[in-house]
Amino acid sequence: MNIPARPFKALRLAQTESGVRMEFREIRWDELDPGTIGIRVHYSSVNYKDALAATGAGKILRRKQVIGGLDLSGEVIASEDPDFPCGSLVAAVGGGLGETRDGGYAEYARLPAELLVRLDPPLGTRAAMQIGTAGFTALLAIRRLEEAGIRPGDGPVVVSGATGGVGSFAINLFHAMGYAVSALTHKSGCEAYLRAIGAEEILGPKDWDPKGAALLPGHWSGGIDNVGGAVLSWMIRSTRHGGAVASVGMAASPQLQMTVFPFILRGVSLLGINSTEVAPERRGALWHELAHEAFPPGIDRIAHQQIPLSALPEAFGDWIENRVVGRVVVAIAEEG
Ligand SMILES: NC(=O)c1ccc[n+]([C@@H]2O[C@H](COP(=O)([O-])OP(=O)(O)OC[C@H]3O[C@@H](n4cnc5c(N)ncnc54)[C@H](OP(=O)(O)O)[C@@H]3O)[C@@H](O)[C@H]2O)c1
Repeated sequence: MNIPARPFKALRLAQTESGVRMEFREIRWDELDPGTIGIRVHYSSVNYKDALAATGAGKILRRKQVIGGLDLSGEVIASEDPDFPCGSLVAAVGGGLGETRDGGYAEYARLPAELLVRLDPPLGTRAAMQIGTAGFTALLAIRRLEEAGIRPGDGPVVVSGATGGVGSFAINLFHAMGYAVSALTHKSGCEAYLRAIGAEEILGPKDWDPKGAALLPGHWSGGIDNVGGAVLSWMIRSTRHGGAVASVGMAASPQLQMTVFPFILRGVSLLGINSTEVAPERRGALWHELAHEAFPPGIDRIAHQQIPLSALPEAFGDWIENRVVGRVVVAIAEEG
C-alpha cells in the first residue's frame, strides 16, 4: 500500500447559488469518494463535458461538490480486488467521474473496480488519455453502426463536429477501417489537419442544407453526429436507404426537428450512443480493440497537446468558445 500520507492537489467543482465555483484544494486520501481500488493518477484529459461542468455552461454536476475530470489513467497503489493488483496500469472513462463521483483532476483517486479497465500493453497511461472518452465513444459509435449493417463498401460516411475529440477519432478510425469519410466542420483553416487524420472530403457550413426537404438525395451510408439540431436532421435526411446515423453529441443543440420519412420510407436507423452506461465486458472489449487492431494511427496528430493540472481553469473557455482542434491531455503525475 502506497497511500499518500500528505494532502494532495485536486481541482474541485462546487455548485453554488451563483453558479459553479472551481478551486484547487489540498485534500486528504480519506476525503476521496470510497472505492476498492486506489490509483495514483498519471493523466486526465479535457472533454467538452468537462468544460461544461467546470464553467457551469451546462448542468453536469449531479451533487454539490465533486473533483472534476471525466477521464483518468494511472497506476494501482491500493487494491481489494485480485483483478487489479498494485502496480497494474488502469483507465476509467465516463462512468460518472466528474459528475456523480470524484474524477481525474487530482493526484489520487479511489474507484470501484467495475469502472476500471486494465490497460493492455502496449497501451500506456498517456495513450489511454489521448484516446479517452472521445476515442472510446468514437469506436463505440462505429461498432454500433456496423451492428446496424454498415460496411466500408456501402458508400461514404459523414462525421460532424469533425475537429473535436470524438469527431477526429471517428474520422481516423473510420479511415483506418477502409471507409471513405467526409468531415463536416464549422471551423476554417482545418483542411490540412482533417485530411491528415483521414478525411477524404471536407464539408463546411455552405455544404449542408439546414432546412430543405423532408428527404434529400440519399448520399451517406452512415454518419456520426456530434452537434445535434439542424446538422443531425440534415444527416438523417441525406442518408441512403438502409443506412444509419449515430447521435453522439449536442454541441450545437439538443433539438431534433424533422419528419419520420427517412425512418419509414428509407429504413434509416437512428442510434443513440451513451458511452457512460456501457457494460463492463463491452467496455473491456472496446479498450482491448483500441490497444490492438483499432489503435488509432493518427493519435499523436489528434492529441498532441498536453497541459499541466494547474493550467486547467484558464483552458476550459476554449472548449465553450469552440477554439480547440483535437484533444488535450492533462498531465497530473506523469508515467514512470
Ligand atoms: N454520447 C456520449 O456518450 C458522448 C461521449 C463523448 C462526448 N459526447 C458529446 O459529443 C460532443 C462532442 O464531444 P467532444 O468531446 O468531441 O467535444 P469537442 O472536442 O469540444 O468537439 C465538439 C465539436 O463540435 C463542434 N461544435 C462545437 N460547438 C458547436 C456549435 N455551437 N455549433 C456547431 N458545432 C459546434 C466543433 O467542431 P467543428 O468546429 O469542426 O464543427 C467542435 O470541435 C459533445 O456534445 C459531447 O458532450 C457524448
